Amino acid sequence: MEKYVINGGHPLKGEVEISGAKNAAVAIIPAALTVNGICRLENIPQISDVDMLLTILRHLGAKVRMINPSAVEIDCRQVSLRDSPYDLMRKIRASYYLIGAMLARFGKAKTTMPGGCNFGVRPIDQHIKGLTAIGADLDVRNGFVFADARGGRMSGGRVYLDKVSVGATMNIMIAAVLANGKTVIENAAREPHIVDLANFLNSMGADVRGAGTDCIKVNGVERLHGGTYTIIPDQIEAGTYMIAAAATQGEVLIKNVIPKHLECISAKLRETGTEVSESGDSVLVRGASKMNHISLKTLPYPGFPTDMQPQMSVLLCLADGTSVITEGIYDNRFKYVNELRRMGACIEVDGRVAIIEGGHRLTGAPVAACDLRAGAAMVIAGLCAQGRTEIEDIHYIERGYQDMVGKLRNLGADIRIVEYPDMEAAEESLEIG
Ligand code: UD1
Repeated sequence: MEKYVINGGHPLKGEVEISGAKNAAVAIIPAALTVNGICRLENIPQISDVDMLLTILRHLGAKVRMINPSAVEIDCRQVSLRDSPYDLMRKIRASYYLIGAMLARFGKAKTTMPGGCNFGVRPIDQHIKGLTAIGADLDVRNGFVFADARGGRMSGGRVYLDKVSVGATMNIMIAAVLANGKTVIENAAREPHIVDLANFLNSMGADVRGAGTDCIKVNGVERLHGGTYTIIPDQIEAGTYMIAAAATQGEVLIKNVIPKHLECISAKLRETGTEVSESGDSVLVRGASKMNHISLKTLPYPGFPTDMQPQMSVLLCLADGTSVITEGIYDNRFKYVNELRRMGACIEVDGRVAIIEGGHRLTGAPVAACDLRAGAAMVIAGLCAQGRTEIEDIHYIERGYQDMVGKLRNLGADIRIVEYPDMEAAEESLEIG
């Protein structure tokens, strides 16, 4: 077992290079199943969710070859449904994209219900509604999703999403690319990774239009060919370093980003008094010694991302006055607040609203990462806290952040990975012994 140990109080200074977008990669890798050729994907992030998806594709018969740590070749010409690794599918949220990809490729799918971070109930009813509307019959039983394309091939159709869902929008797009007809998705999500998935599919011969708007049209084609595609930079990883720079009153140049994708984050940071300046494919963030309180609500893109909400809470603990954060996407995304309270944060939570009394210096404490972005928030809290913070359950962080410790150390942070005994495992082995 490993944990992060951070000695806080060092302003971050220097440059950091942002990796490829997790939420684009975890859709594009399953979507490679629809390609009857070799896909070369560049700028893939080195994170455990990507490793798991590549392993799942290998089980399905894909030839997966790492060209270098951030480029992979995936050859899905010989895939079949034979050896689906259900234990792996259960561990990640993005395994839901396999339903769409398998339906497109094989006309049928069997996957487990997806796993992932626990922010309360995370239904997949909009995925089911959409896939049904474009030609599949789905059945969820005993923790599995069974799907069959009527007539053996997706037909296309019209879908109106009741909720703006990133996952459902992308899953329907993937399932529709090889359909025998046209698909229209209305009330579609507009996140940058949706545009990235569409660009990937189109570069392999698909006909997807309107991605980035709330109406996406997919004209089914007979077959997708291979090609090379470069994944966009990660909006949330970039935002996390922006907040880390602001929280430590540091000065960090964040490189390899698309500043347009960061506007929703930059705008709120500027309201706190943090300096954010864009140039080309980088942003420079300079932390202020005194920050203003703000209010914000998480919303679908181009609103403030729910995946930046925990990190922003940490920053607002340091601002003067009372800030209010309203979580507009998930029912239960403030669980990490208990961990932050151990570090001296004054936050009251009432349902989907957190009221943050700022102006308190955080102090180091032993805490846990309760999910991926909550884990990133704990790291930021540790970086600006007085004293030593130890963060357990860092496997959540490693699901979505490439080499966070290395990148932060380059910026002058005192953070390291420490092995520690797994008491549960030790107790179990004593019992067995
Ligand atoms: C995806 C991302 C996650 C990010 C989230 C919001 C992946 C693997 N995960 O999650 O990192 O936090 O987008 O940007 O890319 N909903 C339904 N029914 C559905 C689908 C969603 O009610 O069928 C609800 C969800 O519970 C949530 C909201 O719609 O309240 C948005 O969910 P969605 O955009 O689909 O997010 P996820 O796919 O869960």
